[in-house]
Amino acid sequence: MPERYRKLVIHTLTGDFRSSTCVVEEPWRDPGPGEVAIRNHYAGCNAIFDKNLCRNTIRYVDVKPPFDMGIESVGEVVAVGPDVESLRVGDAVATSRLGSGYREYQVAPAARALRVAAPTPEILALIPSGISALVGLEKIGEARPGDTVAVSAAAGGLGHFVVQLAKLRGCHVIGITGDASKLPLLRALGVDRAIDHRSEDLREVLAREYPRGLDVAYDSVGGEVFDAFVDHLAIRGRLVISGHTSDFDREVELVAQPRIYRKLYWKSASVRGFQNQAFPEFFDEAAQRLLALHAEGRLQVHIEPRPFVGLGQVADAVEWLLAGRSRGKVVVSLVEPRPLTPPSA
Ligand SMILES: NC(=O)c1ccc[n+]([C@@H]2O[C@H](COP(=O)([O-])OP(=O)(O)OC[C@H]3O[C@@H](n4cnc5c(N)ncnc54)[C@H](OP(=O)(O)O)[C@@H]3O)[C@@H](O)[C@H]2O)c1
Repeated sequence: MPERYRKLVIHTLTGDFRSSTCVVEEPWRDPGPGEVAIRNHYAGCNAIFDKNLCRNTIRYVDVKPPFDMGIESVGEVVAVGPDVESLRVGDAVATSRLGSGYREYQVAPAARALRVAAPTPEILALIPSGISALVGLEKIGEARPGDTVAVSAAAGGLGHFVVQLAKLRGCHVIGITGDASKLPLLRALGVDRAIDHRSEDLREVLAREYPRGLDVAYDSVGGEVFDAFVDHLAIRGRLVISGHTSDFDREVELVAQPRIYRKLYWKSASVRGFQNQAFPEFFDEAAQRLLALHAEGRLQVHIEPRPFVGLGQVADAVEWLLAGRSRGKVVVSLVEPRPLTPPSA
């Protein structure tokens, strides 16, 4: 084992990811009872969460530098604690714990390491982005066969799973992007209607083509997309708030509108906040279903084709995602350059 390894920490809360973070070394520690040591191969980029940490605006985390960064990773077990029987050296595992992602090695409770077939970027993307997609769509949005489901940022790390899971559930799916170059990917994912909301008027399309309204709207963009969704919910429609990428780091916009009960009450519609960490009871079953769907070839995983290699490029990955340039899940390789995925569609 190495005597020391590298990890990414917040050293100062500047509000900006690059200037808040740096790579530091940590001394090796053997896993204790109930723990395993894992060599991380890939880490998932959650740019919005990461940047919010650098502003200390995640409501359930109090960031005090130095603060370990990164959430999900896949890797291999390199050492096991004295009493660990569930995992062995060489097992591929996925973990999803705050502070355990952007680092070369981690020591984790064995109970929090999910054994997987291989430490691939695809499996990394399924856990936890796929889990958030599935839980948000099924448990919060209560999507049912035949429902009309609209998904914003539909070509993104989270959105591309929501689209496919809704199609697998027998829904009619409207995939929305703000970038026309992502439309072919949306069609390849199987959407019934792809909309670039910067070149088509979202409200106008929804009113003309979907006069009955949306049974489920899965939104992570916010702003005017959210407003359009609220106004186009069907009777008993459910709007899932999964994020608000378009304005999460802007000053809070005050908008003058009728109180929301005026819009929802007569339609028996609802707007439902969704933060995955509030629904851990659904994770294990969701993970197993997602891994099985992927293994059966029924669920595509799209990884952003631009490679990001090493802890020194995490800030590049974060900025790439925040610029709206990515397609699919943004992944950082911590072991070696990842072969380029062919451009999707
Ligand atoms: N609810 C939960 O538990 C949960 C879990 C994970 C993530 N999230 C949230 O889900 C959302 C998606 O996360 P992700 O990591 O999968 O990201 P992502 O969707 O892969 O990337 C963000 C996308 O948002 C869209 N976007 C809209 N307005 C934008 C703007 N002003 N600037 C930049 N991009 C903009 C862009 O897609 P288009 O070009 O297609 O518009 C961009 O590619 C985030 O809001 C994140 O915080 C929520």
